[in-house]
Amino acid sequence: MWGLPGAALNIAHVGLSTWAMSASKIGDVARRFGRCCATDAARAVENVREGVVNCGGMKRKKEMMRRVAVLGATSGIGRALVVRLREEGYEVVAVGRRRALLETLGGETLTLDVTAPDAVAQVAALGVDTVIYNAGFGERTALPDASRTARALEVNVIAFERFAQWALTACRCFVATASIAGVRGLEDTNGYSASKAYMINAMEGYRRKARHGGFACRYVTLLPGFVDTAMGQASRFWRCSAETAANVIVRGLQRGGEVLYVTPRWRWIALLMRCLPRGIFERIPLK
Ligand SMILES: NC(=O)c1ccc[n+]([C@@H]2O[C@H](COP(=O)([O-])OP(=O)(O)OC[C@H]3O[C@@H](n4cnc5c(N)ncnc54)[C@H](OP(=O)(O)O)[C@@H]3O)[C@@H](O)[C@H]2O)c1
Repeated sequence: MWGLPGAALNIAHVGLSTWAMSASKIGDVARRFGRCCATDAARAVENVREGVVNCGGMKRKKEMMRRVAVLGATSGIGRALVVRLREEGYEVVAVGRRRALLETLGGETLTLDVTAPDAVAQVAALGVDTVIYNAGFGERTALPDASRTARALEVNVIAFERFAQWALTACRCFVATASIAGVRGLEDTNGYSASKAYMINAMEGYRRKARHGGFACRYVTLLPGFVDTAMGQASRFWRCSAETAANVIVRGLQRGGEVLYVTPRWRWIALLMRCLPRGIFERIPLK
């Protein structure tokens, strides 16, 4: 007669004690999490006091970036970066192909095509601790153009990849200028957009490699929206000057950022682009 209610009572008892056990376990985990947060917070305060930034799971001094090579420094963002970094007191070597433009910058320069077979060796010989891979090629075309795509792949993928691989064991910091255009495929800059998508994913992979493999190189991805340079002429939407872009980048690097949107509000456009379902995204014309 008590069979059914007894079984129900038993189940209720087991359920309650399991719930009590889980509640106490959850409490335990929460307490431990709280203790970890408190320790992390205390450590973070200590680090800020000591001028240490925590990146890639490793503590590194903010001052680690001392001697920097900016590749693609003859014009636009790269040129503004050279000026800004020098104002901040860093030793900067300006690298690019157009020698006359490099000379107008003054200071240390290196005339170099990043796609040259010995390009990495030439930069390695400069004895820099940081490389900013800002050289890039991309042109808007009404119809797909295989020769332009090939050039974009040479500069934005193959040469970039050689430098990124070398940096893992040779540099303290490797920065690459990707683009918001690399977040999704775009109709009129398809090859460029695909090459920057490669760069974004490769940089994430290198960050993971450095973190999990114990390498000291910090990989930083730059994601500019529209910047007022020869390359960014086509759009006026949220366009900033090269000088503003350089300020945002240098501040972000000094703060220990690993993915920097230029300017920061482009983060929201990137998020929207990533979240839009394919069916909707492909119906929106993006020039
Ligand atoms: N402007 C934008 O709206 C925008 C948006 C997103 C991302 N970006 C990226 O920002 C970076 C800088 O572009 P920018 O806007 O400042 O345009 P830019 O003024 O045309 O600068 C491009 C730079 O790349 C260098 N370069 C190109 N091919 C090279 C090669 N083979 N070897 C060495 N240097 C090379 C150029 O120097 P030389 O020609 O003298 O060699 C130049 O200094 C690029 O990677 C671009 O994709 C720009």
